[in-house]
Amino acid sequence: MKIESLTSADGSSTLYIPEMDETYHSRKGAVTESEYVYIKMGLANLHLKQVRLLEFGLGTGLNALLSLRYANQNRIQLDYTSVEKYPLEQGILQTINYAEHLSMKDEWQELHQIIWQESSEWDTFHRLLKWQGDFLEAPLEEGAYDLIYYDAFAPSKQADVWGMEYLNKAYRALKTGGILATYCAQGQFKRNLKSLGFEVENLPGPPGKMEMVRARKTT
Ligand SMILES: C[S@@+](CC[C@H](N)C(=O)[O-])C[C@H]1O[C@@H](n2cnc3c(N)ncnc32)[C@H](O)[C@@H]1O
Repeated sequence: MKIESLTSADGSSTLYIPEMDETYHSRKGAVTESEYVYIKMGLANLHLKQVRLLEFGLGTGLNALLSLRYANQNRIQLDYTSVEKYPLEQGILQTINYAEHLSMKDEWQELHQIIWQESSEWDTFHRLLKWQGDFLEAPLEEGAYDLIYYDAFAPSKQADVWGMEYLNKAYRALKTGGILATYCAQGQFKRNLKSLGFEVENLPGPPGKMEMVRARKTT
């Protein structure tokens, strides 16, 4: 599938898939959106010093990089698992400017050099497992994760991953009290979350989006 590199409004890169007419992040600001939805409303909201984090869709690795930076600044130990069905090729990764934009050259290189399917030491203090395959097939420990970044393509482009089967997998992986954060606030998706037992919070969205969702597993 053809993938093009774009510069979003805050100067950070994102990717565009013409065939799907879909971007990996908001055109209004890739770093701005990820920082707000996943770090501010997700990781920073946990107030934990050890965090097991699960991501749907490693993609460019932007959420992983921002999480690493936040964890190092706040002395949090991360155990980060990211599931990705379609890993990006080296050629397209080279067009992305996060190493310079975030001043994280070494961290960017390490993130993309760590081998797939094995939990590895990451930036000395943390662990990273990049698992290649479909989220539904990932061997996820149940009741294990404090936080899920649910960063799939939009429901209008990839409806199945916002449906009950995928969300039930995410629900089972979370600890009681754990949260799922996402930029998506689609009605059917929120109803699916509620029917699985999630408590759903509608929060103001990042620039260009009215709302985002944070959902908690309460029992
Ligand atoms: C919106 S992008 C994620 C952006 C990413 N978090 C980042 O920071 O660049 C969605 C990602 O989900 C991946 N994906 C799509 N379907 C998937 C599936 N069934 N299981 C796992 N990953 C999937 C895509 O390849 C893509 O990388």
